[in-house]
Amino acid sequence: MLIRKKILLCVTGSIAAYKAAYITRLLVQAGAEVKVVVSKGALNFITPLTFSTLSKNPVFSDFTEDPDSGKWTNHVELGLWADLMVMAPLSANTLSKMAQGQSDNFLLATYMSVRCPVMVAPAMDHDMYSHPATQENLLKLKSYNHIVLEPASGQLASGLVGKGRMSEPEDIFEAIIAHFHPELPLQGKEVLVTAGPTYERIDPVRFISNFSTGKMGYAIAHALASKGARVHLVSGPTHETLFHPLVKIYNVESAQEMYDSCIALFEAMQISVLCAAVADFRPKKQVTEKIKKKDNSLTIELETTQDIAKELGRRKTSGQYLIGFALETENETEHTQAKLISKNLDMIVLNSLRDSGAGFGSDTNKISVFWPDNKVLHFGLKPKIQVAQDITELIIQMISQ
Ligand code: C5P
Repeated sequence: MLIRKKILLCVTGSIAAYKAAYITRLLVQAGAEVKVVVSKGALNFITPLTFSTLSKNPVFSDFTEDPDSGKWTNHVELGLWADLMVMAPLSANTLSKMAQGQSDNFLLATYMSVRCPVMVAPAMDHDMYSHPATQENLLKLKSYNHIVLEPASGQLASGLVGKGRMSEPEDIFEAIIAHFHPELPLQGKEVLVTAGPTYERIDPVRFISNFSTGKMGYAIAHALASKGARVHLVSGPTHETLFHPLVKIYNVESAQEMYDSCIALFEAMQISVLCAAVADFRPKKQVTEKIKKKDNSLTIELETTQDIAKELGRRKTSGQYLIGFALETENETEHTQAKLISKNLDMIVLNSLRDSGAGFGSDTNKISVFWPDNKVLHFGLKPKIQVAQDITELIIQMISQ
């Protein structure tokens, strides 16, 4: 998402300076070229080695590394190199110097030299932040068209509680993505995705599960995040991996754990895509010792698990969209349409086990999509990554109607 984007990250003296390491990592992983400038104050909190290791570039802190050699670092060149300058964290001191046009250090001289947009993430104690001088300085930066990422409220390093905490690295990263891609259709949307199977324990070494691998759910999580969504991926046990700065993974094992995670997240979600193959039954009794081979047969009594989709359908309010999946072996259309209605879904994706190359474990899938107004779309066999993109496009169309 940030390939070939040149970002100049300026770190000033605040305890939040350590969080700038995480910002660097997120930017580099998204493909950006990152150069870091640190102020003298920042060096009290974090070392240049952290940033040079993460950014794979030298770190700049002064006009000259070696005063005797006469060699100097060209702040003008560095300023002109950048597509975006990000000041995170921005201390009250540097903020005030920026507002006054002072350039008594390398970081400020570079700031005065840039021609690109500037984004700032102030971080300071609550009283310093609410001081009229700071507020006036911020207004001044806004009048220069700088992008100001308001600090959050919460626990501060001083022990006080109030506004002043630097925006979280993920939020700063998202603001940077939004800056370069203002057109991303799911920008800022909170999305829940469930994926994979669940394990229902019989005893400490055995469980009941199904053949789901999580491939489809992980592909959907990735496709949604690449359209700007903040994805909360609640995943049953799977070998799939996914790193995307906008995807947060919550690992669960059983249907009950998946239910609890989904319920905790759901209220804040605008879109939920329930891709997981949740076990419908679990052993009524979980034994704590391994069951011994005593007889020729064993009877395990099962009870139903909670239907997450149904419960979320019941809780859904206007502005929330719920998308489910169905995997059927007979009377596919009828069963799928019945689920769409009974679970109060806005869209349901049917994958048939009849088609070879579709369903569990394979890298391809063949889907049909149904809506409550009886509209149906049939797709051909495609790689799951493309299927995920098709589903994402349909979701985008549905929410923008
Ligand atoms: O009823 P069925 O299991 O076929 O419904 C499939 C849909 O319901 C899928 O979206 C699946 O993720 C969801 N589901 C659920 N909780 C369950 C069972 C299914 O969320 N306990």
